[in-house]
Amino acid sequence: MSTTSDGTRAVRAGLPAPEQYEPTLPGPVFAAHFHLSGEPVGPYTYGRETNPTWTRLEQAIGELEAPGEQVGTTVFASGMAAVSAVLLSRARTGDTVVLPDDGYQALPLVREQLEAYGVRVRTAPTGGDAQLRVLDGAKLLWLETPSNPGLDVCDVRRLVAAAHEAGALVAVDNTLATPLGQRPLELGADFSVASDTKGMTGHGDILLGHVTCKDPELSAGVRRWRKVVGAIPGPMEAWLAHRSLSTLQMRIDRQCDTALVLATALSRRTDVTGLRYPGLPGDASHAIAARQMRRFGSVVSFVLADKGTAERFLDGLRLVDDATSFGGIRSTAERRARWGGDAVPEGFIRFSVGAEDPDDLLADVENALDRAAR
Ligand SMILES: Cc1ncc(COP(=O)(O)O)c(C=O)c1O
Repeated sequence: MSTTSDGTRAVRAGLPAPEQYEPTLPGPVFAAHFHLSGEPVGPYTYGRETNPTWTRLEQAIGELEAPGEQVGTTVFASGMAAVSAVLLSRARTGDTVVLPDDGYQALPLVREQLEAYGVRVRTAPTGGDAQLRVLDGAKLLWLETPSNPGLDVCDVRRLVAAAHEAGALVAVDNTLATPLGQRPLELGADFSVASDTKGMTGHGDILLGHVTCKDPELSAGVRRWRKVVGAIPGPMEAWLAHRSLSTLQMRIDRQCDTALVLATALSRRTDVTGLRYPGLPGDASHAIAARQMRRFGSVVSFVLADKGTAERFLDGLRLVDDATSFGGIRSTAERRARWGGDAVPEGFIRFSVGAEDPDDLLADVENALDRAAR
């Protein structure tokens, strides 16, 4: 599979060899336990440990994360289950962990949990590779690039080199980019982690997460954690996710192209400030993003005058749902400050570009902006 390109790989990833009278993607296996006589050895023993539907999905995700390489992928019930699996299984009392201070808004909850277990946590912003300055003595460095919702980008190769030098492992939350946008393991990271609730599955109808590692021991630790905590995906969700992967390249390409069109149009408006999109040539993160990313993602963020203007804008949109989450084929947008967890202005909009026709979407956004400004 390593010689094929993204679209071909996505269409075929994780599928079994063709077999007469069998379906292309075998249906979900609903099983709490499997027939098992004698010694309790794998591959399928008990439903909290393994399931053939996960195996195929894990194979598929591994092929996208690291084409042509042997990696271990573990799927989880949600992105947070995957995030926690790495952070809570690796950190020990007395260890130091470095997190971004502008990452996903549930990270501070994980921080509280780590501190309750006697783990020291340091934070620094994603932009400017500021986490470099707080690496001393750390055991684990957590990166989120591009960051959600601010869309800052850090230089993964540079941070990995410094972290490894300091004896720390590195995990990258790759949710915004997906493996088609960025391959953290290729950039040197030890763990590639994602919420597959977002662009990876792209239909806004399932929660899922995964962790992929090259090192079999690190992978075994993550897998062990899933067994201990039991944060397993349902077979139906895993099967739907696998089916969604076949359209990943088409969805992401369309969404990224339109995101750039939207960001470019927004950059010409005087009522829009704080515009961020790593694919925009003038964006502060563009140079690093262009070096390490293969696609720039479907999320654009910007700031409107105040809360009222932002709410009028969201109300005025006809093709865009006012909803959280991102990466789906239907465009969504939200006033991010409504949640209270991010350090963003009241008028901050996180806009997730879907697969609608770009002209329709652009007209809808321009119209809603014009009306909101009045
Ligand atoms: C960057 C990032 N990581 C992790 C998560 C958590 O994922 P989930 O909601 O699937 O648990 C999210 C959710 O928005 C996210 O944006």
